[in-house]
Parts: sequence; C-alpha cells; structure tokens
Amino acid sequence: MDIKKLISEMTLEEKASLCSGRDFWHSQNVDRVGIPSAMMCDGPHGLRKQKGEGDHLGINESIETVCYPTASALAASFDKELLRELGETLGEECQSEDVAMLLGPGLNMKRSPLCGRNFEYFSEDPYLAGELGAAYIQGLQSRGVAACVKHFAANNQETRRMSGSSNLEERTLHEIYLPAFEAAVKKGKTRGIMCAYNGINGTFCAENKMLLNDILRDKWGYEGFVVTDWGAVKDRVKGIAAGLDLEMPGGIGNQDAVIVKAVQEGRLEESLLDETVERILTFIQDYLDARRPETVIDRNAMSEKSGNFAAQCAVLLKNQGLLPLDKTKKTVFIGEFAERPRYQGAGSSHINVSRVVSALEAARGLDAAYAQGYDVHQEERNEELRAQAIEAAREAETAVIFAGLPDAYETEGADRENMELPEYQNRLIREIARVQKNVVVVLHGGAPMELPWIDQAGAILCMYLGGERVGEAAVRLLFGEENPSGRLAETWPLQLEDNPSYLNFPGVDGQVNYREDIYIGYRYYDKKNREVLFPFGYGLSYTDFAYGNLQLDQESISDRDTLTVTCRVKNTGSRAGREVVQLYVRQRNPHVSRPVRELKGFEKISLEPGQEKEVRFVLDQRSFAYYEEKLHDWHVESGEYVIEIGASSRDIRQSGCVQVQDTGEIPMNFSYESTVGDLLKTAKGKAFVQQMMEKGGAPSGNMEAMGEGSAKMMQNMMLEMPLRSIVSFGRMTMEQLDGLLAMLNA
Ligand code: BGC
Repeated sequence: MDIKKLISEMTLEEKASLCSGRDFWHSQNVDRVGIPSAMMCDGPHGLRKQKGEGDHLGINESIETVCYPTASALAASFDKELLRELGETLGEECQSEDVAMLLGPGLNMKRSPLCGRNFEYFSEDPYLAGELGAAYIQGLQSRGVAACVKHFAANNQETRRMSGSSNLEERTLHEIYLPAFEAAVKKGKTRGIMCAYNGINGTFCAENKMLLNDILRDKWGYEGFVVTDWGAVKDRVKGIAAGLDLEMPGGIGNQDAVIVKAVQEGRLEESLLDETVERILTFIQDYLDARRPETVIDRNAMSEKSGNFAAQCAVLLKNQGLLPLDKTKKTVFIGEFAERPRYQGAGSSHINVSRVVSALEAARGLDAAYAQGYDVHQEERNEELRAQAIEAAREAETAVIFAGLPDAYETEGADRENMELPEYQNRLIREIARVQKNVVVVLHGGAPMELPWIDQAGAILCMYLGGERVGEAAVRLLFGEENPSGRLAETWPLQLEDNPSYLNFPGVDGQVNYREDIYIGYRYYDKKNREVLFPFGYGLSYTDFAYGNLQLDQESISDRDTLTVTCRVKNTGSRAGREVVQLYVRQRNPHVSRPVRELKGFEKISLEPGQEKEVRFVLDQRSFAYYEEKLHDWHVESGEYVIEIGASSRDIRQSGCVQVQDTGEIPMNFSYESTVGDLLKTAKGKAFVQQMMEKGGAPSGNMEAMGEGSAKMMQNMMLEMPLRSIVSFGRMTMEQLDGLLAMLNA
C-alpha cells in the first residue's frame, strides 16, 4: 500500500481508531480502506498465543507449545549464536500462527536481585544485555516477525510497577538503563518498542518526549513504532505528542474520541497524528509483506532444541571433584524439583507446555534412587519427607539435591522479599550433609539466592529456569554427557544487604531513587572491593583453559580509531568444552568517577582437548567512553586504558595498555570560581596560564629547600586556586579577569 496516500484518504476518526488496539492482542482494522489487523503475542521464551479470552497476566489458556529457558538462563549462555537461533525458531513459529509481533525480549537491568521479573531479564550489564538482545531480535526478524523490546525504560521492579517513578541522573540513565535498548535499535534494528508503565523523574514513559522522541528517534534514529505496555496510557494526547504510537490493549475505554476532539480543538496537531498512523501502518504493511501462515513447524525438534539450550545455559558454581557423576556409583536424587522442576516464571511470559521432562524421568535407566525430601505446597509433610530423604542419602554414595525458588517466589507483579531459599530446603541440605559427604545441589530459580550451606555442598549446578527440558539438561550435565559452559550474567552477592540498591529498593510511595547511580552489579562490588558469593562472568567447566599471547594492534589511538585485540585460548584439560572469553576495559586515573572495569566484549568458543584458538575483539569509541552530562553525549577522556581479558570479572588472565586521545572538548563555562586547573583543561585556558606564568615568573623561593610536601602543596594550591583569587593576589585586575572570562566563554 502507498501509506502516505492512504493516510490522506482516511478520516480523522479512522486515523484515531488505528491508534489503539481492536482487542487484547490485535491492532485495529479499518475495512473501508482495506487495512487489516495484525496480531501481537507475548513471549519471549516461547509463544504465548491466546485464542480464547485474553489477559496479560498469564492466567487464561494459550496454545500448547515449547517453553525455552527464560532470559536469565539464556544470558548465562553468553552465546549470541544461541540467542539468534532461538529468535529464528520463534520467528518460524510466529509465522505458522500468523503472529506479526512477539512481545520481547525484556531488556531491563537487574538493579536489585529482588525484582520479581528478573527471570525475564538478561543481566546487570547493559552491554551484555544489548548484545544478546540484538542477536535474538536479528534472529526473530530474519523470519519476518517484529520484535518488541520492553519495557522502555528504567522499569526495574514490580512494586508500584504501573505508577512509580524511577528517579535517576542523566548519566545513570544513559550509561546503565538505556544502552541495551540502544543496541536493540541500532544493532538489532528492532521494529517494535514497548514503553514501560513507570515514569522517569516524574514523567510517565508513555508520555515522555525526552525518551520517545528526543532519545529514541532523534538520537538513535529509531524508525519503528512504540506500543504501550498493556494499560500504560495516562494522557493519550500527550502521548501522541511525545512519540507514543499504539495503545494496547484496545476495545476497552476507547480513546479515539479523545484524540479526535484534541485535533478538532487544536490541542494536537494533525500532522503528529499522521506520523503515528504512518508508523502503525508501516508495521501492518511489513507484516503483510512477510506473512507465511503456511509455515510448518516441528514441535518435537523445537523441544529438543530447548533442552540443548538449557544445557548451554547452566552454570557450574562449585565443584570439588564430585562432578561429573560416576554412573556406576549409587546416586540418590532428592527434592521435589527432581520430579517437578521449576522451569519458567509466572505472569505474561507464561508458556502453556504440553510436556516437561524432569531429571527423574531423564535419569530413568541410570538406576538413581529418589526421595521427595520436601513438598512445596504442604509444609506439614516436610518433617516426614525429610526423614525419608536423610535415610536414602545415608545409603547412597552421592546425594543430588534439587532445590531452588518455589513458583510463588518470583513472578511478574510482585517483588521478592528476600534472597533466601525456603527454610525447609536449607535445613534438608544441612541435615543430609551430616550423613552424606558427597552432596551435589542443583538449583532452579530465575535470580540469585543466598546459599547458607555452601560449605557443606561439594558441587552446585545452577540451572536457572531452564525451560521444559531442564531436567534432561541437568542429567546430561551431572553425568558428564555435556560440559557446563554457562557464566553468570549477574553477581551473586553474599547477602541481600550487600546489594547497592538495598537502601532504596523498592522506594517509598512510588518514588524510587537510584542513589547508587551507575554503580549497579559488579560495577559496585568491584569499586567497593566487596567480597561476593560469585562474581559476574563466573562459571566452572569440567576442563581447564589457558590464556595467552594478548596483542593490541596499536599502542596509541584517537577516539575515532578502532583497536583490535587478540588473544589465544587453549583447552588444557582432557574434555571438550566451551569457554566464554571476556574483555573488560579499565581507565587509569579517570577524572570522573568510573567503574573499575566494564565489559566491552565477549566470545564463546568451543575447544577440543589440546585445541587452541585465537579470539579477536574490535573496540571503538564507545568501549572507552563515559556519558558526559555537560555534552549530553558520550565522551572519551584522554589517557591510559587497560584492556583486560578474563574468565570472569574477577579472574583476569591477561592485560595490556593503550593510550587513547580524545578529539573532542567538553564545553566549559568559566566563572570566578573556576580554578587554574580547570583552565588547563582547554586549549585557550592553557595558553592563558602559560602566558601568565611567563609574565609573572615562577613562584619565588627555593623549591628544593622547601621539601617535597611543600612543593606538592604549592603545586596543588596553584591548580586549585579560583580565578577570582588571582585578582586577590594581585596578579591580575578585575577588568582583566572579566575580559579573560568573556574570551573563554565566547
Ligand atoms: C507486561 C508486558 C506484557 C503485556 C502483555 C504487561 O503486563 O508488563 O511484559 O507484554 O502485559 O501481556
């Protein structure tokens, strides 16, 4: 269709009607001009297509389909190819179900381990979330299905999720909470974005011009459309003016009349409405062009894929030689999750699964005994179940305890109260460890947990929420058919109180102040040098990897150049395995507060025993930059940067240095209170100081005789002297100073 022509032929009422959905899951159709509706469905770790009554909380039935690992598990794969493949597979399924857009992936940051939806989000690191999100989007959209990244932006908790305000600094917003969305736009080329319910610094995202028009469209060049989170509209007219396109769901309290009236009364320019309509029609047009409802999918193959993904996502947290298990030894599986695993979270992402493979089922034929150990739903039974489990553990050679967060602990709509496991599980693990020295714990859950019994467990394998075949994946990993290769995409603190958002989560009366600023996750723990349970990027393998031969292609670059970094990684063990090679950048002596190190590259590689591979990274301006509020943009400070290659954020194996020269200048506004040191930061100011020194001569007195302390004091006094004091010390008149300021600020 010729969209512009079509818009010119539509009535005001028809255009307004297109701005909200027809029902829970469809955009509006306008039959008179031949515009059909398009369907959008929840995901993102499976397809949640509702054929009957719609709801956005995962309550009513949706079609039976395959459930993949949720985002917190997927992120632990650190595997862009895996994410791309998942996107492609979901794209095929959406085509077969005639779905135009899948509502995902979720790209919000894990500010606190307590956010009830953390299982739906990737990471505490914006770069990692952005790279993985972009790969997923590319995969999905390669099949002609639109992605819809959510929830834009700073939607980091469930408490007061529909009305709260996330209050944060400009730098924090740009450095931590926006980059994953930026990557989704620039790299992933997402065609849809869902704006969040919450506000940012008091303005709701659904009517936030700074967010939707200024940043998303003008700065990032986004060409797709913006849909509300379900029910996020407050002031519809303000929303259109701010850059919001489609209101969902529709067919409820219709806003068409509100829009029509605003245009008629001159409160909303019709051209803005036309732009909104154009973006919605582009989405529908793209859908019609790519539609392939005849697509046939194979759910068995998809399910198998889900299991393979789960095996790539699991993180081996501890192993004192207990894993992999020996099939000839007597093993007992303990814990209800061995029989009924937790494999996904609750809420809008909930997938209707036809068959879940438990560890118990997968281990059939391996002669593993089983004791239920606890009942998630009936705590009164737990005494008796615990006694049976202890007996079973005593008789076995190894006890594998399946533990983790029960369903009600993590869900959309409610935050967690703490990071603890249920006490009946902690007690069971401790008591089993008293009678059995070989204790392996398998964890299910979408977020970090406190592990008070960690010293009593010889091995811990975290499966996160691994999708419908999580049990099978666990068994393959436990018995060494697969080698664990997941790495933590989030820090596991020793205790909740250590988390930097602890004092300001979940806020008061809907006001959530992000006082920790840019210091979330490992950025905080590293800066404060705090001990953690498991650091960001951490995970063990059944083999070992050696790192060597780090090379930087240049010693010195400008911020317009790229730097190529290579290193070699070798599998020095006796099993095939996969390693996640991580690149961090660290600035030496920054003049603004910066994290110790930040992730700027990662690659997952497969290595046979003895095999060695070269890993290559290309760094650019953004790899070195911080967000400078004076510029409202990214900026690289000239100086020395350390390139660190590691197996985790706290296991740096190789490092090298590069000098980076900045080519821009931060505009400075000089006043009487600016210092000589400030002057030295600009070319004009530097020239002036030199001139002044030449005219006035060096400070009098014998510097050598003064001693190092006094010399240092003199130097610092000089650098920190406010400009007005130069007048007080008689080195300049007030008129000369005013002239200087006028020249500098010109
Ligand atoms: C959730 C979204 C979801 C939408 C539609 C909302 O409550 O926040 O993530 O896509 O409902 O179900």
